Amino acid sequence: MPSERLSVVVTRRLPEVVERRLAELFDTTLRKDDTPMTREQLARAMATADVLVPTLSDRIDAGLIGQAGDRLKLIANYGAGVDHIDVHTARQRGILVSNTPGVLTDDTADMTMALILGVTRRIPEGLAVMQGDDWSGWSPTALLGGRVAGRRLGILGMGRIGQAVARRAAAFGMQIHYHNRHRLRPEVEAEVGATYWESLDQMVARMDVLSVNCPHTPSTFHLMNARRLKLMKPDAVIVNTSRGEIIDENALTRMLRAGEIAGAGLDVYEHGSSINPRLRELKNVVLLPHMGSATREGRIEMGEKVLLNIKTFDDGHRPPDQVVPSML
Ligand code: DGY
Repeated sequence: MPSERLSVVVTRRLPEVVERRLAELFDTTLRKDDTPMTREQLARAMATADVLVPTLSDRIDAGLIGQAGDRLKLIANYGAGVDHIDVHTARQRGILVSNTPGVLTDDTADMTMALILGVTRRIPEGLAVMQGDDWSGWSPTALLGGRVAGRRLGILGMGRIGQAVARRAAAFGMQIHYHNRHRLRPEVEAEVGATYWESLDQMVARMDVLSVNCPHTPSTFHLMNARRLKLMKPDAVIVNTSRGEIIDENALTRMLRAGEIAGAGLDVYEHGSSINPRLRELKNVVLLPHMGSATREGRIEMGEKVLLNIKTFDDGHRPPDQVVPSML
């Protein structure tokens, strides 16, 4: 055990068991309330700590990294996505970045299916009828949705989460299509009978349901821009459990309002919690507050990954989930 314990600053409240373990192992500063830190608080933490444990609600940009103290050696992100961290600048400053991949795959894929079913089977409309005490009994023609079995699902980004969505959707009888930077190995494609599309435009134009599952990077920003959204079939729906910036939210809202896209299921938004108010008014959308990975089990496993990354670093090794710019 090193004589001096690493000083670790955690920017948000984490599950109690995770906070307790962090405090046992390191000289840890925990948050008293669950509000995001201000930029000044982040700068102060980064000036003095050995390790920062941020979350996606902290923007760790080049300016903040530039002001970091010499002690800061690891940014151990609590979360899989690292688009809020300037990984390139951190690397130039010799600061390692790690994340928590893998442990939120199934939960996020489950929520993707929930959104697909929620939109196509009009679940929020049914709920509104019940909560409004508006139901006068079964009707052969009320609240008819579309059957997912037999529909073409296009998965944009076939990493861990995309593949987990594919397995679930295949079990629901959907036909699986995907677009990805690299084509998958034949045996992985065969498992779910997935069809690879090199051209995203061509895939988008032919799908009944599109699921966004790629990370947000400079090259995926507005990948679903107005031009591409217009390629979608008017009876198609789009779901997004990845990052809001991948879809041009204003263009999507306009097209949903105009009936040019049939529906959307969104867990993430282009400007965080500042959602386009017109999107909120629509009936053909299911909107969730970024809860794709929000299970008790997942949050603890994310914490365990953070602990392992810091502990491994403390023991003089590379954190197992180190993120390097070439991975982005
Ligand atoms: C992540 O870890 O990046 C997820 O978006 C959190 O839900």
